[in-house]
Amino acid sequence: MKILGIAGSLRKGSFNKALLKEAVKLVPAGMKLEIYDIKDIPFYNQDLADTNYPTAAKELKAAISESDGILIATPEYNYSLPAVLKNAIDWASRPADNSPLNKKPFAVMGASTGLGGTIRAQLHLRQVALFVNMYDMKKPEVLVTRAQEKFDEELNITDEPLKAHLTKYLLAFRDWVNIFMNEQKAQVKATGQN
Ligand code: FNR
Repeated sequence: MKILGIAGSLRKGSFNKALLKEAVKLVPAGMKLEIYDIKDIPFYNQDLADTNYPTAAKELKAAISESDGILIATPEYNYSLPAVLKNAIDWASRPADNSPLNKKPFAVMGASTGLGGTIRAQLHLRQVALFVNMYDMKKPEVLVTRAQEKFDEELNITDEPLKAHLTKYLLAFRDWVNIFMNEQKAQVKATGQN
């Protein structure tokens, strides 16, 4: 099972990048998690898409196509998802009738320095996912509050309950993605088509 990890923060010291990196260490058997950094993706512009398609956006779409599921770790910016994450989704969502996001299972987690734990950003992301027809895992949730108290200087998680929860979450996500992988296999078997 190939999972693509995307962080909604570009900064080096990002707690959300750190959360994804921790997930790479904790992945269950049978799951491979690779992170794609969205830092080089320009703002969506239909003219660019028509005449000079950005390499980074092309790479992102290819990585999504090759994945069985997506794991997003996002901060909350002003009660919503960061523009850089929305922008990456916007690129991947076009053309609408041939988007690699269509029917892609995903899970969202997030870390904030406040007490909200990114709940509102996650809700907004789920709303976007509705339109692009992605399948979001509803439960369990990962809502990391006061992230600055849960990571050390090297951005490793020091909070053991969080690490244990993340391990369980990844197991649940493996089950979630498996549902869609099995359905796809059954369809291929029934129709003889790939
Ligand atoms: C924030 N932050 C924030 N936190 C929160 O819980 N709710 C919010 O609405 C916001 N809004 C917000 C807007 C902007 C522009 C910034 C830069 C920050 C704080 C945020 O949780 C904190 O900066 C995190 O550390 C950002 O995540 P990364 O970069 O560490 O992954």
